[in-house]
Amino acid sequence: MNTFSKVIVETEFLMFLVMSGAYPPDMSVLVKARKGGANYIYSVLVGYEDPPPGVTLDDGVYYNKYMAGNKIKMPNNLMDGLVEYADGTLA
Ligand code: HEM
Repeated sequence: MNTFSKVIVETEFLMFLVMSGAYPPDMSVLVKARKGGANYIYSVLVGYEDPPPGVTLDDGVYYNKYMAGNKIKMPNNLMDGLVEYADGTLA
């Protein structure tokens, strides 16, 4: 295993621990496995919404209009203020 592969495996393992049991999928496989390919992956990234009335979500589960079943354990990665640069700039 080369250094790059080791970093990928270690990062995925850390994500697995952080996400308390939900394992992030391998995007190189997912792009072929899901109808729509890369467009599907993009849609999931922008598909977060408040759940409609009557839909309840467990802790650590989010509503996503493009995920099968509309429930996903990946948090929204595209929110203002998620990243803070060294000079204090929020992005
Ligand atoms: C730009 C970066 C990312 C993209 C494009 C992306 C995309 C996706 C997509 C499309 C899925 C749905 C997979 C499916 O159809 O089965 C997914 C699932 C998942 N992602 Fe991400 N993701 C990203 C970053 C992350 C990050 C940073 C984390 C961890 C903090 C994460 C954790 C997960 C987990 C745990 C799942 C499985 C969700 C479940 O089984 O309910 N992802 N991701």
